[in-house]
Amino acid sequence: MSTSGGSAASTLIDRATLGDRLAALDPVAAADPSTIRAVRAPGRVNLIGEHTDYNDGFVLPAAIDLEIRIAYRPTDDRRVVLASDADPILAEIDLEAPPPPRGDWTDYVTGTALAMRAAGLPVTGFRGVLASTVPVGAGLSSSAALELAVAWALSGEAPPRIAPLDLARIAQRAENEHVGVRCGLMDQFASASGRPGAAVLLDCRTLASRPVPLPDGLVLVVAHTGLPRALGASAYNERRAQCEAAVATLARYRPGIGALRDVDEALLDAHAATLDPIVLKRARHVVRENARVLAAERALGERDLGTVARLFAESHASLRDDYEVSCPELDLLVEIAAGSPGVHGSRMTGAGFGGCTVTLAEAGAVDALRMRILGEYADRSGREPRVWTVDAVAGAGELA
Ligand code: GLA
Repeated sequence: MSTSGGSAASTLIDRATLGDRLAALDPVAAADPSTIRAVRAPGRVNLIGEHTDYNDGFVLPAAIDLEIRIAYRPTDDRRVVLASDADPILAEIDLEAPPPPRGDWTDYVTGTALAMRAAGLPVTGFRGVLASTVPVGAGLSSSAALELAVAWALSGEAPPRIAPLDLARIAQRAENEHVGVRCGLMDQFASASGRPGAAVLLDCRTLASRPVPLPDGLVLVVAHTGLPRALGASAYNERRAQCEAAVATLARYRPGIGALRDVDEALLDAHAATLDPIVLKRARHVVRENARVLAAERALGERDLGTVARLFAESHASLRDDYEVSCPELDLLVEIAAGSPGVHGSRMTGAGFGGCTVTLAEAGAVDALRMRILGEYADRSGREPRVWTVDAVAGAGELA
């Protein structure tokens, strides 16, 4: 039986319920509920600009209302004890002696504490409970949401003392250094700096960003293949190394090239024969994808939906054929969605190797789209898809 997630917002837990869960575990919180604080941090979907962030390029993610929420009580005992609704494992961390990586979700908690401390930020102990509607391993950045939510909780009574962009960079460092994935900044940036009703274009070199409002009447649909994203850190890090190999070769001919961001198609064509064929394909994806992000921003602003759909299709094909991070399930979901009435673009989103697609659809077309995915996709793939309509929301902050 296939299940549909429906509207993402309808699954969110409210502050009072989460506070009650904390009170049930923590006598101090139960005795004085005014000590309870709560924070939310969103997952993200990337509209376009995949595997460009670590190449100093452009991305266009939206923070979405699939969220991680934590109710917590700041303490002065230098200890974090955090329970999760999804995992019997507790995060128990002595902030004076943080444990080494264990290979589970608690690494994101420890890594965030270490990265905040390294950045000179105050780090406070807390007792907390976590509830999440961001599916794990689905390519919707549950790890970035966890890092941002934990960063807020570790900040104690007050909001973090730095700008969201700087907090995002600290969270990225947690993942790079403690968890060992050499991810770019996109996910943490989106979770920290999302805007309601908009995607946000980030220039990953200058870190300048600007909101790109979603066209009126269109909604974002996220569909999960039912295939856990196997982001083996190894496959991801290998793509990154291939991009670096392309830069090293091209810089021999054109000094000053520091990243694929500095490369255009003419330069790539001129030196194609000097590059390993696989490395050439990876570089071609990144160079063209960067151009597509800027073209998509323009097309969304002009409500040129035909162009948006074409750019999404080209992005997906490039990720499938040149970057080789798609899979048959993602391709099938995109084929079904792109062929449905009222759809103006569909593609895989996130790192790939399983996970989710993002689809831009007219609000009135979503029910039929959902039925097609739950019927046709499930039949043809033998997998259990999930489908959410999501809203673009603000980045991490206090939960009212
Ligand atoms: C993952 C990484 C991001 C980005 C995407 C691919 O989500 O965490 O930094 O590289 O893959 O676009």
